[in-house]
Amino acid sequence: DAVNVRSARADLDRFSHYMGKEISEQPAMLADALARLGTRPDLRALVGDDGTRRLSAVDAIVLIASGSSYHAALTARYWLEGLAGIPTTVELASEFRYMDAVLQQNTLAIGLSQSGETADTLAALRHAQQLGASVTMGVSNARNSSLMRLAQLQLIHEVGPEIAVTSTKTFSAQLLLLYLLSLGLAQQRGHMTPALQQQAHSNLLHLPRATQAVLALEPTLDQWAQRLARSEHLFCIGRHYNYPIALQGALKMQEVAYVYAEGHPGGELKHGPLALVDARLPVIACLPWNRLAEKLLANLQEVRARHGELFVLSDAGLTQADRLNIARMPADLHDLNPILYVIALQLLAFRIAICKGNEIDTPRYLAKSFATE
Ligand code: AGP
Repeated sequence: DAVNVRSARADLDRFSHYMGKEISEQPAMLADALARLGTRPDLRALVGDDGTRRLSAVDAIVLIASGSSYHAALTARYWLEGLAGIPTTVELASEFRYMDAVLQQNTLAIGLSQSGETADTLAALRHAQQLGASVTMGVSNARNSSLMRLAQLQLIHEVGPEIAVTSTKTFSAQLLLLYLLSLGLAQQRGHMTPALQQQAHSNLLHLPRATQAVLALEPTLDQWAQRLARSEHLFCIGRHYNYPIALQGALKMQEVAYVYAEGHPGGELKHGPLALVDARLPVIACLPWNRLAEKLLANLQEVRARHGELFVLSDAGLTQADRLNIARMPADLHDLNPILYVIALQLLAFRIAICKGNEIDTPRYLAKSFATE
């Protein structure tokens, strides 16, 4: 990977690192993908006639992945169940491949891997086939990958090579494809009301510009980064579809900022992690102003009561206060909020890494994908 990074340095343009470049490419990448795939539910555009027919017989889904792709899968579960009403489970490939799991009848097994070469994910998808999955699908950035050859159905995002070891734009691309798949399945199952379709269409149309607005938060996030670079540990929290985003944010912090970071659902703090919160443990919160906002605010009060410093990403008009830092996010995009909030966390991790002078594109001990065991 270090060799790849060095040989590709020529296309860095004005950027100092590939991670920064790839984070910045996301608004254009999402706009291109939507121009290609459309903003209306269309299963045929995603998987063709044969794929559409096979999916009509599916009664359950198991999503299988590793690392960042696993967090994308956890996010997608909220859409596949919430929009399409299909019972969905999410499995870590390295565990699932050795598990005597019981699959429901007519299960679609989906392997997610940006590289399409992660050995655990390939083995786990084969295992799902042996356990009786009725159809398999691969979601990847690499058309000619092993995963695409293995799976019966292919969802390919192809958003250009991602050079930095840390996934950023491919994560957002996975989310977009899985959201569009959920919309298509919702329509196929008769769950798509005109109001839901209109809301999804409008949110998708606004998505590229909203992600641009997130990137414009860089000066604020840079100020946060200068403070957070002095912390040895931190929590990222979120609720509902932003819980996996908190996990993903924490992973980015570990990978490039070399901070001991944990992601938690806000409601779980009181069941243990709160014991660690004090004035030296900052908490970064994803707080879209939705039906769970009040709940998360109550969780944040618990942090404040223990003198934890809060860094809150929110579209609500909250006021800064002592040890309460606010970055104003773009307006609520409902189900698409995870894409907005993860970009903010990617950028924050990147800025912390810059402040600390870390090796960013090739973090220590990590590889872009683990094709061998
Ligand atoms: C990405 O930031 C990570 N380095 C890593 O967790 C990665 O997501 C994981 O290895 C899975 O890779 P894949 O998506 O290519 O299968």
